Amino acid sequence: MKTFPDDFIWGTATSSYQIEGAALKSGKGPSIWDAFSNIPGKTHNGETGEIACDHYHKFKDDIQLMKNMGVKAYRFSIAWARIMPTGKSIINEEGIAFYSALIDELIKADIVPWVTLYHWDLPLALQLEDDGWLGASLPDYFAAYADVCFEHFGDRVKNWITLNEPWVASILGYGQGVFAPGRVSTSEPYLAGHHFILAHAKAVHIYREKYSYQNGNIGITNNCDWREPLTNSENDKQAAERALEFFLAWFADPIYKGDYPKSMKERLGNRLPEFTSEEKVMIQGTSDFFGLNHYTTMYAAHNDGTKKEQSVYGNGGISEDQDVDLSLDEKWKLTGMNWAVVPWGCKKMLAWIDERYHKPDIYITENGCAYNDELVNGQVNDQERLDFYKGYLKACQEAIDEGIKLKGYFAWSFMDNFEWASGYEKRFGLHYVDFNTLKRTPKKSADWFSDVIKCNSADI
Ligand code: GAL
Repeated sequence: MKTFPDDFIWGTATSSYQIEGAALKSGKGPSIWDAFSNIPGKTHNGETGEIACDHYHKFKDDIQLMKNMGVKAYRFSIAWARIMPTGKSIINEEGIAFYSALIDELIKADIVPWVTLYHWDLPLALQLEDDGWLGASLPDYFAAYADVCFEHFGDRVKNWITLNEPWVASILGYGQGVFAPGRVSTSEPYLAGHHFILAHAKAVHIYREKYSYQNGNIGITNNCDWREPLTNSENDKQAAERALEFFLAWFADPIYKGDYPKSMKERLGNRLPEFTSEEKVMIQGTSDFFGLNHYTTMYAAHNDGTKKEQSVYGNGGISEDQDVDLSLDEKWKLTGMNWAVVPWGCKKMLAWIDERYHKPDIYITENGCAYNDELVNGQVNDQERLDFYKGYLKACQEAIDEGIKLKGYFAWSFMDNFEWASGYEKRFGLHYVDFNTLKRTPKKSADWFSDVIKCNSADI
């Protein structure tokens, strides 16, 4: 058995559009995901988040399930369009009441709320009127929305995450067009990313300047897969480093070091917007902790232009900009997303962050896997997921032993949900959801994870 630090935060995570349902009910405005998922061909079987897990109506039962597991923290996101149906000015009181009740219920269950302000479901009006994240006004609109959330929930919420994975929102939403708003471009991702960083920083300034009396923490969650050099050659080592810079340092360097990585500036030229010197100062130091979503690992090799890049994310946008060739080891096991299970990559990822950003407090705000789970005689025997968690938690435990300041771990996800373009086909949950009856059933992995939380140690 391996033990974790006494104050280690154990949690589960979800996001609004993926679980809430009530997509156009109770005063909520449409989001870009409502629009995108309703366009034929954009999601698996044309599925949408219209009902999803109906968490909007079932949140009390869900919190009871979390309480049964002994979960100490719950990371969820607020749907901007439920708070502000058009993204600006007008406030939907029913939306405020919903999140207020959810937060109260969590506190009653002794579960600490970790709130993400933006998990990709931009109010559709902001897309139509302001060009979404390409619009220069977006950072201010986001900051104004964040202000409303701090004002109404900050008395009880002490852990804020401004944005979830701006890399995915920029690359998949503005580069490859496979996520909302479905745009395809080789330059727009960098403009959208630029506005995401400014939006994050502005929201943090409002929090620190207006709400410091609330005594909370605020940060950002970025995602990154590990990139292991394919060979020991200097070229491949540099390629792997470059790939990590284009992935994680794109967003983390401005926040921790004050500007974009040199490799990006050199390769992207004027496709990468520049921060003014005032903006650099405003952005630097705007994360109280390092939020990391981590799922997988790939080999990286220098691409001299003769090989075709083979990323799981396709060839669009950013990949060509890096001259990196990605590949998998055929011995690695794959999850239902075809993502490789490589726990040592997680440990290396944590060490890379620890070194590059000078030992920040790190929280893994998402880690998990999808498999083809089946409910048989009322049970789900998801041994593969259990093995996945064992491997990754072992990597986390070793990292902590080596002095890396990993402070918490949130499993993705609390329950099966709307997995974006993959619809309901990909199941990431610790709880199985029957999408006809909406009944939740704890999987074997949920029982195991619950024991880990309760004993603060694991047989890994
Ligand atoms: C993350 C995302 C989650 C979830 C997960 C599994 O990128 O934040 O919403 O979908 O991946 O694909």
